[in-house]
Amino acid sequence: MKEITQIKGDFFGKDIITLDQFSSSDIQFLFHHVGQYQEIADTNTLSKTLAGYIITLLFYEPSSRTFGSFCSAAQRLGAGIIPVQNPQAVSSVSKGESLEDTIRTFASYSDAIVIRSKEAGTAQKAADATYIPVLNAGDGGASHPTQGLLDLYTIYQSVKRLDNLTVVATGDILHSRTIHSLIQGLSLFAKNTIYLLSPKELRLSKEDYKKFSGNGIVIKEIFDADQIPTHAHVWYWNRIQKERFATQKEAEKYTNRFVLTKELLHKYGNKNLMIMDPLPRVGEIDEAVDQDPRAYYFKQMRNGLYVRMTLFSLILKRL
Ligand code: NCD
Repeated sequence: MKEITQIKGDFFGKDIITLDQFSSSDIQFLFHHVGQYQEIADTNTLSKTLAGYIITLLFYEPSSRTFGSFCSAAQRLGAGIIPVQNPQAVSSVSKGESLEDTIRTFASYSDAIVIRSKEAGTAQKAADATYIPVLNAGDGGASHPTQGLLDLYTIYQSVKRLDNLTVVATGDILHSRTIHSLIQGLSLFAKNTIYLLSPKELRLSKEDYKKFSGNGIVIKEIFDADQIPTHAHVWYWNRIQKERFATQKEAEKYTNRFVLTKELLHKYGNKNLMIMDPLPRVGEIDEAVDQDPRAYYFKQMRNGLYVRMTLFSLILKRL
């Protein structure tokens, strides 16, 4: 079985399982190429970059943005796709086939597999089962590296740097895979501070706190909106991850404790602030905020397409 390797300036043939595989220069290298793919997408150019390639999308959990943007990214580059949403219902997974055999099957028909799973560790298991590249599109509550990359890209585009930043991340910090990947991504650059605002019960697990803070980023846990610093560059809101709770009722206890309203923005937001959310939004940002020029969440979503086009291209084609 292959090892999960560091990118080290060469994306070709690599799996994307975690942002721990990246260095700051790998991220800069990736971002350097995004513009040319943005151009292809924005001008509706039919690119032949990946003509002749087929990409499988195997999504064990619901998805709109990640699934849609990976599908779009592949097709805008001329690749074909095998889209499998809910394999538990529509594939031999329903007959009891193992993950490994499912991966071997789609690896016989395609050149890369994009996988979203309910259980942390599945992306790595999938990568271990095949020699074709596997891209993690959300690994249970653990990580979501391509979302982390598009989030960093969105910040980079606007602030023009990825160091010396103060970010406030809010919501279900315990279960939010996008916030975990954001912390990992920011850790690759110097002098970043992240404030994690959540109900006490949904703070980072001890294990994650130790792991993430060992990477040099300053983590400040806060439990009250009054503690939001007014000098932040980014507010990153994410919903309560209700599917990770034992019961609906348990999740509802925490839903919308920290809603981003115009009032909150007026009180603690500065004029250069970026408001981000990986989406879906389910009440954590008031719709009245959408008109504010500091709202970046829809732009962030479009950036996902460009970043995923770039990744596909770098992984499947030697430059
Ligand atoms: C996120 C996810 O699936 O983790 N969505 C996404 O990929 N854009 C965030 C979420 O579902 O809350």
